[in-house]
Amino acid sequence: MYRIAPSLLSADFARLGEEVSNVIASGADWIHFDVMDNHYVPNLTIGPLVCEAIRPHTTAPIDVHLMVKPVDRIIPDFAKAGANVITFHPEASEHIDRSLGLIRDAGCQAGLVFNPATPLHHLDHVMDKLDVVLLMSVNPGFGGQKFIPETLNKLRAARAKLDAYAAQSGRRILLEIDGGVKVDNIAEIARAGADTFVAGSAVFGAGRGEDAHRYDTVIGALRAELAQVAA
Ligand code: DX5
Ligand code: ZN
Repeated sequence: MYRIAPSLLSADFARLGEEVSNVIASGADWIHFDVMDNHYVPNLTIGPLVCEAIRPHTTAPIDVHLMVKPVDRIIPDFAKAGANVITFHPEASEHIDRSLGLIRDAGCQAGLVFNPATPLHHLDHVMDKLDVVLLMSVNPGFGGQKFIPETLNKLRAARAKLDAYAAQSGRRILLEIDGGVKVDNIAEIARAGADTFVAGSAVFGAGRGEDAHRYDTVIGALRAELAQVAA
């Protein structure tokens, strides 16, 4: 019912393949892959070549979060590199409907990402083209920032929209949260309606080493919090 998606942004970039397989062996569900272009956001990270390089290290879904402008040209490259989910920011695309279509046409699941101050109305006319809605609970660009509490209200509003759509269409769209998710706030975030949780510094900051199960403790703690919400 809940998915945990560690963000590679806080992983050891010199050993990415190992980090990917170890975090999945430790119980994570998805790999969150943050793509930044030093244009749409003030940081520069990884692209399709790195996605392709980590692909053989796991069968878990790779969740590509595009923080790039323009969006469309790079979509097929990530699909070819083995991405399963591709999300982008509506402000970064001139033609949101077209970008969503390009992602689905490339065989991936599609999603829109909302910055803390971006209104949810961008959802209104594209629900049938969405598989995931991702709410940012920090301003995008960096790991290790503090969760913005107003996001809880926005999550409740998004939950209501997605539930109404599911009731009418029979189709569930995932509600993902990204930024500042920790063991001590994940339960509250789940209660506000999120079902998929990106966690970068909380997971990869929890210690590095050789052990293939080195992230068991932190992922176990996140799951224990979620189990209380589900109970
Ligand atoms: C921020 C990225 C996030 C980030 C989350 O722009 O989209 O995925 O890595 O990191 P934490 O969990 O440390 O806030
Ligand atoms: Zn992200």
